[in-house]
Amino acid sequence: MNLIVMKDYKEMSRQAALLIAASIALKPNLVLGLPTGKTPLLMYKELVIIYQNGFVDFTNVTTFNLDEYAGIGRDDRNSFYRYMQDNLFRHININNKNIHIPDGTARDLKEECRRYEEAIRKFGPIDLMILGIGHNGHIGFNEPSDEFIAETHIERLTSKTRRAYAKYFGSISKVPTKAITMGLGTIMMSRKIILIASGRDKAEVIRRAFKGNITPKCPASILRLHQDCTFLIDRDAASLIDK
Ligand code: PGA
Repeated sequence: MNLIVMKDYKEMSRQAALLIAASIALKPNLVLGLPTGKTPLLMYKELVIIYQNGFVDFTNVTTFNLDEYAGIGRDDRNSFYRYMQDNLFRHININNKNIHIPDGTARDLKEECRRYEEAIRKFGPIDLMILGIGHNGHIGFNEPSDEFIAETHIERLTSKTRRAYAKYFGSISKVPTKAITMGLGTIMMSRKIILIASGRDKAEVIRRAFKGNITPKCPASILRLHQDCTFLIDRDAASLIDK
């Protein structure tokens, strides 16, 4: 596992955006895995700036998002589809048909998981997967569990995760109880993985993922078995790694 520690959130975000742009320059038809959440917001802003300056072309890029809430439609202001449109897609020249996000309102969610997994296999493997990390060690919505689940599946969200997302929904009772998420096996099949994290509140989970046991109780710990995974984090998030 590689570790890159940047001075602060801003530097980390810029570095992540530059890495994405450089990867697209090297492979214009890159298959890119993308996260949502608070952490990637500035990375997306920086990427839009790089695009506006003419240094990156998304024409042939294909994207796969990690997850989507069950029961939340694309137009809902809390959907990850909307998040991606607002923070990245509508600011760049990506082709709509190259954007993939699970459909949380599909009639048959299990079938939707199968369809999503198949699409990743058809276009993939993912060349570059960008991940965030939850305070409980989740990546995508792969919550702490007794087993590592390989493929795209329906995940029941933990109360810790629902509490963390309550701020977006107004109250915890409005946060969906389930989500569709890419599985850990599919994430691990990515050619290159970069996990971003920022802030002191992520320091403990970064320490666990980076140095603790490799266990489904901390899903991000599985990344240590990947041949090309980098934690690109800021000083605060890295502050407990040596302790
Ligand atoms: P955050 O979420 O960036 O909002 O902290 C990360 C995650 O839950 O994966």
